[in-house]
Formats: sequence, C-alpha cells, structure tokens
Amino acid sequence: MSKIILVTGGAGHVGSHIIEQLIQKNPEDKIISLDNYSNGSKDNHIIGAEYREGHTKDIDKLIPETPNIVFHLGEYARITPSFDDIEKVYDQNIVGTFAVVEFCRKKGVGKLVYAASSTKFATNGEERNANPYSFSKAMNVDLINNYGHWYNLPYAICYFYNAFGPREKGTSKYATLIAKFEQQYLNNEPFTVIKPGTQKRNFTYVGDLARGIILTAEKGNGDGYTLGNIKEYSITEIAQAFGGPINYIDGYPGRTESGEAPNKAREELGWNTTVDILDYIKEFVANHPQNK
Ligand SMILES: NC(=O)c1ccc[n+]([C@@H]2O[C@H](COP(=O)([O-])OP(=O)(O)OC[C@H]3O[C@@H](n4cnc5c(N)ncnc54)[C@H](O)[C@@H]3O)[C@@H](O)[C@H]2O)c1
Repeated sequence: MSKIILVTGGAGHVGSHIIEQLIQKNPEDKIISLDNYSNGSKDNHIIGAEYREGHTKDIDKLIPETPNIVFHLGEYARITPSFDDIEKVYDQNIVGTFAVVEFCRKKGVGKLVYAASSTKFATNGEERNANPYSFSKAMNVDLINNYGHWYNLPYAICYFYNAFGPREKGTSKYATLIAKFEQQYLNNEPFTVIKPGTQKRNFTYVGDLARGIILTAEKGNGDGYTLGNIKEYSITEIAQAFGGPINYIDGYPGRTESGEAPNKAREELGWNTTVDILDYIKEFVANHPQNK
C-alpha cells in the first residue's frame, strides 16, 4: 500500500537525498516536503515530490494529511553561527519541533524519525551544552524520548555525523566544511582551518546518511541509531588531502573528538558506510585539475 511521507527540511542537504531515495524506492508513495527555505534551496527539489513552503510551527495548517512517517530534519543546522543566531535556533528548533512532535501525537503518525546531532556524545556528553545548536538538538532528543514514554509516540532517533556529498553548500555562513574547501581549492586559495586543526570529525557520505535514516524508519525503534563513518580525520588532514596550503585562523573549533556513542544502526540494522572522505576528495581533485 502506498504511504504518505513527510520530510521536514526536504529542500536542505540531507533531506533532499532522503526524498531522492524514497522516490527511487517506492514511486507510489506521496512524498511531501515542508521547508521554510531559511537554508534550503529550490535547486535541491527532486521531481516527484511535493514541496510546501513554511515553518514547522505552522505544520497543523500546512499539512492536513496524516503521514505514515515523518522524517524531521527541518531545523537550524549549523554549530558556529548558532551563537549569533540564538533567536532563530529557539524559534526553528524548539518552537518548531514542539509543533512537529505534537502534530505526530495528535494525528497518530505511524513513526516520527528525528535527525539528531552526534555532538551530544562528544567530550563525555558535555558537548550537548557547548553551543546553542547542540543544546537545542539534545533538548529535542529528550523531548521525543519523553513523548515515547508519556504518550507511547512511535519514534526513532538517528544521530548524524558531518555530512558531505552532492548538494552541500560551499558559500554563505551556513556553508559546510568539505564544500567550503572545494570552493577554496577551485579558487586556488589557502584552506582556512580553525586552530588547532587537530579537532577530528567522522565525515559521512550524505547518501549513506539518507539510506541509514530510511532503514531506521523501516526497522528501528527508540533512541540510539548513530550514523557515522568509523574513521575520523582531523581538519588539518582533510585540508592536506586537498593539497594545502593551510591558513590557520582563530575561531570556534567545536568538539575535539566524537566520544563514545550507541551503535544500534550497525548492530541491529546492519547499516554501514560506503564512501570514505579521503577517496571522495581524491576523486574531486582528479576531476578538477587546478590552473595555477
Ligand atoms: N549535516 C550534518 O552534518 C548534520 C549533522 C548532525 C545533524 N544534522 C541534522 O540533520 C538535519 C539536516 O541537516 P542539513 O545539513 O541537511 O541542513 P540544511 O540546513 O541543509 O537542511 C535543513 C533544512 O531545514 C529547513 N528548515 C530549518 N528550520 C526550519 C523550520 N523551522 N521549518 C521548516 N524548515 C526549516 C532549512 O531551510 C533547510 O532546508 C538538521 O536537523 C541537522 O540538525 C545534520
């Protein structure tokens, strides 16, 4: 039987890949995106999905349907600028997500699947309060877990590690690292690395994240589905993979490393990654010889 699937943040980076894979998997399903385009783009639209423009806090008005599954990704999604954008973080992530969770409870949505942030596990769990973004994401994990206990809300929580891959944004203050480095490479500029450069990240291919969250929607229950590459690389190693030179700058370096996290996606669902970031960079460099 065909399903109605809502993807909040469907015009964003990871959301657009989820929609693409959902349509490939079952073209009969009705896929709706709800996005306020605060960081999304119409260039990310996938043929076959229906796009509605609006804030998640207006979900009751904008989504009269009762979806079988809600993938909830439509939130403010960047760490460093979140200090300056705390009002947006509160509005988009706390106010907006409360409305999404309530919508799921009242409508009896089949499953709410949340894209949480792995920052929650870093530095023995202290990182959950390190910046407005991580705080909001960890609060929403608590909220959704509580709705599971209080109201028997069917849900599953995935934790993403740093996404890379097609449709990643390289410009604006919401640009992500690999796309920013690709831009600097193409412009023959030095790679800007926030000191000390030894901070490590588990860069994870966006197609693997999308496959993982869809698998979690199909078979997962509750908290603990981390979706991250096992290998971690320092930011300096990543800049060197593009060929350097590096310009070290002062700034907010974020977590030093990722910390211990639950591993239900691999253990229960057999999920794994298929693309390593260094191979991806190697291919990018081979396909874009520099005009020095
Ligand atoms: N990219 C990562 O490495 C990463 C890591 C951990 C968690 N996540 C989470 O995954 C989700 C997707 O991340 P992304 O990198 O694709 O970000 P993104 O900014 O590309 O996508 C988020 C989308 O949601 C939209 N949006 C934001 N607030 C909204 C609101 N209140 N109502 C409606 N739409 C709204 C934006 O316009 C954007 O299109 C986010 O929830 C993010 O916190 C991402």
